[in-house]
Amino acid sequence: MAGAATAAAEGERTLCRLDEIPDGGARGFAAAPGGFIGLFAVRRGERVFVYVNSCPHVGLPLEPVPHRFLDARRQNIVCSAHGARFRVEDGICISGPCLGEALEAVEARIVDGQVVVPADAGR
Ligand code: FES
Repeated sequence: MAGAATAAAEGERTLCRLDEIPDGGARGFAAAPGGFIGLFAVRRGERVFVYVNSCPHVGLPLEPVPHRFLDARRQNIVCSAHGARFRVEDGICISGPCLGEALEAVEARIVDGQVVVPADAGR
């Protein structure tokens, strides 16, 4: 039996299938039930990097339009508000007004091809 929709254990949340995030691209997710702040994920092949969608500068969501979290070359995460740029791999700000600060990383794992995070991530 393949890929059931039950990858998440108790206390976890399934975001989507890994293959629903374009390789090299990103995807945003709404806040968990009872939460206010969404998440986003960046895929690099079989790896995925998930962050809380709140810029360390002043706490705004990063994307100007749905799912656009990366620069044109898809190398760095960019905050659309004031242009801060972050490394995909660790969320550290490498330029902009919050230089040296970091996005809040979310521990993500891939289970049966699905991206699973703690249910309270972003709350
Ligand atoms: S809120 Fe992100 S750079 Fe200002």
